[in-house]
Amino acid sequence: MAEDLPVIEIDDLHKSYGTLEVLKGVSLTAPQGHVISLIGSSGSGKSTLLRCANLLEDSQKGEIRFRGEAVRWKGSGAGRHPADRAQITRIRTNLSMVFQQFNLWSHMTILQNVMEAPVTVLGRDREEVEHSARNYLDKVGIGDKCDVYPAMLSGGQQQRAAIARALCMEPTALLFDEPTSALDPELEQEVVRVIRALADEGRTMIIVTHDMRMARDVSEHVIFLHNGRIEEQGPPERLFTDPQTERLKGFLSVTAS
Ligand SMILES: Nc1ncnc2c1ncn2[C@@H]1O[C@H](COP(=O)(O)OP(=O)(O)O)[C@@H](O)[C@H]1O
Ligand SMILES: [Mg+2]
Repeated sequence: MAEDLPVIEIDDLHKSYGTLEVLKGVSLTAPQGHVISLIGSSGSGKSTLLRCANLLEDSQKGEIRFRGEAVRWKGSGAGRHPADRAQITRIRTNLSMVFQQFNLWSHMTILQNVMEAPVTVLGRDREEVEHSARNYLDKVGIGDKCDVYPAMLSGGQQQRAAIARALCMEPTALLFDEPTSALDPELEQEVVRVIRALADEGRTMIIVTHDMRMARDVSEHVIFLHNGRIEEQGPPERLFTDPQTERLKGFLSVTAS
């Protein structure tokens, strides 16, 4: 059954920008209901890996599978691109992304922001989408902000709106790229609480984060990237208390809060 297969499997992925090799053979598996955290220094390739997983970026070598279905490619090396537009759209709409900078439409109300993609991209019924959009906004604690514009909200509220927008796509998995990095510490916590609640209800998520406490609390598995390679990985209980490599030890000693 498709539900038994990992939501995302990445196998030996290589990605370069021109001559700069950014991912040097990275593999990752996100089973249904698991949270995978990606940690590592700035420039280690975390965002690139997430964007490749979501097929927002091409990669030159390696495989990506969604629920066991391999992405079909044409060409090879620098000339490799996804071969099947419909497949890409299908996979991408099942992997909702939440970005550091929220990326809400400033000219739309919060409710319109949440409803936009399900209505225009998925072609779902407007009334039904509005109902579920209001539910998701309630769920992230800003059900009373439906009719205001993003600029009137705090960063924490905007990020929660962005999470409601991602949820309203009814995705198979959520991908977060540093969801709390643009926020003041007190606003950061309201977003962490929402992410923790999503983890508790068994959502499949891949989270790039600098928040080691959140990574430890919500993840089944943590991957430490260094310079385009997985330097170390494992369950958070082990990784954070008993790091094996000097690089992870060093990284944790400077990020420990
Ligand atoms: N669009 C791009 N063009 C060229 N180089 C890029 C691009 N995006 C990222 N890079 C480079 O790829 C490396 C990894 O970046 P990134 O994935 O953003 O790292 P992280 O998210 O871990 O900070 C960095 O050296 C960065 O400068
Ligand atoms: Mg990044």
